[in-house]
Amino acid sequence: MAKDFSTMEDSNRSSNPSIHDVSDPARRTVLRGGLGVAVSGLLAPLAGCAGMTGAVAGPLLGFKSVPVGTADTVVVPEGYSAQVFAAWGESVGLPGEDHAFSFDASNTAAQQEAQMGMHHDGIHFFRHPMKADNPAAGLLVMNHEYADDGLLHPDGMATWNAQKVRKAQAAHGVAVIEVEQQAGRWTIVKPSRWARRITANTPMALGGPAAGHALMQTAADPAGRRVLGTLNNCASGITPWGTYLTCEENFIFYFKGPDQPDAHQARWGLRKGDPVGYRWHEHDERFNATQHPNETNRFGWVVEIDPYDPSSTPVKRTALGRAAHEGATVAVTKDQRAVVYMGEDARFEYIYKFVSRDAIKPGGAKANAGLLDHGTLYVARFDADGKGRWIALVQGQGPLTAANGFADQGDVLIKSRQASDRLGATKMDRPEWIDIDKQGWVYCTLTNNSNRGGNNQPATDAANPRANNTMGHIIRWKEAGDFDSLSFEWNHFVLAGDPTLERAEAKGNVKGDAFACPDGLWTDARGVLWIQTDMSTSAMGKGDLKNMGNNMMLAADPRTGDIRRFLVGPVGCEITGATATPDGRTMFINIQHPGESPSERSDPNQPRRFSNWPDQRPDGRPRSATVVIRKNDGGVIGT
Ligand code: FEO
Ligand code: CA
Ligand code: CA
Repeated sequence: MAKDFSTMEDSNRSSNPSIHDVSDPARRTVLRGGLGVAVSGLLAPLAGCAGMTGAVAGPLLGFKSVPVGTADTVVVPEGYSAQVFAAWGESVGLPGEDHAFSFDASNTAAQQEAQMGMHHDGIHFFRHPMKADNPAAGLLVMNHEYADDGLLHPDGMATWNAQKVRKAQAAHGVAVIEVEQQAGRWTIVKPSRWARRITANTPMALGGPAAGHALMQTAADPAGRRVLGTLNNCASGITPWGTYLTCEENFIFYFKGPDQPDAHQARWGLRKGDPVGYRWHEHDERFNATQHPNETNRFGWVVEIDPYDPSSTPVKRTALGRAAHEGATVAVTKDQRAVVYMGEDARFEYIYKFVSRDAIKPGGAKANAGLLDHGTLYVARFDADGKGRWIALVQGQGPLTAANGFADQGDVLIKSRQASDRLGATKMDRPEWIDIDKQGWVYCTLTNNSNRGGNNQPATDAANPRANNTMGHIIRWKEAGDFDSLSFEWNHFVLAGDPTLERAEAKGNVKGDAFACPDGLWTDARGVLWIQTDMSTSAMGKGDLKNMGNNMMLAADPRTGDIRRFLVGPVGCEITGATATPDGRTMFINIQHPGESPSERSDPNQPRRFSNWPDQRPDGRPRSATVVIRKNDGGVIGT
């Protein structure tokens, strides 16, 4: 997310070791172990890889790099075009609910519930339910991470009322849109039987060991099994059985905290009052944690959605653990079990993986409805010798006992941070997206952590080697055997940076075009590793980031380490989320929060102050949107 909410979250005061020795295992290239299949790079979960076979001949990166830039537009390489698509406020195609976007932000809460939400983030193109072989039609599913109330309402947060809260909640969540290409342009099919908006008020179920747990029970839901909504949906993932995984990131800041949070609340960053000022609790009391403390425990999960069944109930999969979840990336073992890799984007938090108990069955979402409810959650420890361990979060094992506050597995999952603290997991520099290359290396962006090595903060370690890590890095590991292995080898794929800077720790070791603050990460069908950046607006263009311009997307060759800048976004945005059609000829990425103000909430009296992208209308306001990238000759993106 844009917002420095992730940097506000620095609540890990545990004393588990973070100082390994400083030997640098960077560039270690031990390759071994089985490969299995990573699904995130698959073309679509319905029908495998037809259509792209053979496209890998020749160099992986075939385009001419674009320079750093500060223009209020999207810049792509020569020979490419960028089409703005599905911006905030466009109708998603619910039957009977076609409402035009009001450029004065006067759409009602009910209309917003039928329109694209704000702050597009994780995204995936699913093959069309009726035309699976047609690469020019499909379902596009994406996250809407948060709302900027300064842009969402004509007068911003003045005259705060229940309707504004309802509209803000409706601007969150997930959109499912049916899309098709007509005469080279992509459009939303309206109406569509698959169109759907999931918001912060959509009923959803809890699945897995924490469902029904005492810590999940509230006045509105005494059984602890039904939750309203999902929020702060950041990165995403997909499963081989055709579902979408949306991940709840900085959920804690939606809650008003007590004057003196207890130890559990403090470890999860709950603070006195309403530190970010969302003000939902003023008109929706479940967000007042002084009245309903367990409501916070019902967020921070990975939520599974079946985009092919608009009537299906989303399920929060508690077996995957609770976290300020960034994403969820699924790999498959040789015996067909699902392995889900997950980062937790907060300073000094952890990297997790979940291994399912059961094998994936043929038959899609219905046949695998409980697959993510049973399995083992692990947390990563990166050792200084370039090896690492996955440590199980299992009640009764090691320190995870009733005496230590873990009476059952529900306790372990709801209090996964406390469990990981006790297990000696490695405190990372804000783990964001994860993806897997064709050789089985698993990559995780560690976006930045300016607190690393600060006073009373964890020192550098082998995996997080730079103090005041303003630039971020990408770590990668290879499992010792199959994806369910308990040990791995690791190295740094790249330390982001700018070699022209004087500060040694900000120079980085990029082989190619400079960048900072990697966040989005996606491996395409050819094996290109796409890297998207999220330099925070408050830091952009200053200090170590002075030469870096606007946020950008780059393409990396995982085999050589070459990195080339492919796209530069408009002013004040972050670039996040990437997916492509099965033929690789259309790529969709998201532009989030163009024109974000340094205070991270826009001034309703000056909505165009920093950006007017994409509409550039005299009466407009900046809008998050998807961008469709095509090669003018119709070729595969990146070639
Ligand atoms: Fe929502 Fe960590 O980015
Ligand atoms: Ca992110
Ligand atoms: Ca980020």
